[in-house]
Amino acid sequence: MSDHIRLNQADGVLEILFSRPEKKNALTNSMYREARDAFERAQQDKSIQVVLFGAEGDIFTSGNDLEDFASIAQGKGGELEAQAFVEALGQAVKPVVAAVPGLAVGVGTTMLLHCDLVYVADTARLSAPFVDLALVPEAGSSFLLPARIGHVRAFAMFALGESISGPEAVTLGIANKALPQKEVLAVARSATRALAKRPSRSVLATKQLMRDVQVVMAQMHQEAALFSAQLKSDEAREAFSAFAEKRQPDFSRFSN
Ligand code: COA
Repeated sequence: MSDHIRLNQADGVLEILFSRPEKKNALTNSMYREARDAFERAQQDKSIQVVLFGAEGDIFTSGNDLEDFASIAQGKGGELEAQAFVEALGQAVKPVVAAVPGLAVGVGTTMLLHCDLVYVADTARLSAPFVDLALVPEAGSSFLLPARIGHVRAFAMFALGESISGPEAVTLGIANKALPQKEVLAVARSATRALAKRPSRSVLATKQLMRDVQVVMAQMHQEAALFSAQLKSDEAREAFSAFAEKRQPDFSRFSN
């Protein structure tokens, strides 16, 4: 068990908190594995009614660890653990709540599309800049995000790297409430506890009726094939090198 995923369990709720502040809570392969193991156990555990995702500190997550991406891109090994994590989210039967205290990049935003209640800081910024990294959207977001916020806004987020604020996330139907940062986790916890006390079979059936898991999983698999191919592309390698070297990427030498 690493220090980077904190698990708390009480009153029918499992909390999974990202805690890697020195790297802006970037999610490594081992963090994804730990979070997914706990999440999948919660689906089976009769004493858990609801899962809450949150973070310690003032950032939700800066997304996938780019060193892990670079390692796969350079053939140095490692698995795309993110994929198994988002597949587990997509197939969740129990309700999932998110508390987003600040920046949410990449999977930090796309995972919210699988959550049933979302509370964000009014200072939060949500982004899904996959094309900045020469990648493609994941977690079913190429289907779920346009369905939620409309094609042009979703395309601007994916392809231009545009972000949205906490209050905009509420207006666009991604989040329930935008709150002062210090209140986000407390409000999410209170909603989570309330949910855990509701009649559980009714809650589960309601979630099931509201989601077309087959459609979402089919989209995820299609995305995963393209994502894996792009991850090993020259453009993506340039994007990861540029991030490591703290410079802007130069994609101009890669033409179609
Ligand atoms: N993967 C690996 N390391 C990351 C990271 C990520 N996704 N995001 C941040 N870090 C690391 C930085 O490399 C830096 O490490 P260092 O101190 O050893 O140099 C540290 O976290 C602090 O990040 P820094 O960039 O200095 O902070 P910032 O406040 O200026 O910017 C971000 C924060 C999140 C905007 C910026 O780090 C960023 O754009 N990260 C990449 C986000 C991304 O593309 N995620 C993948 C989406 S699919």
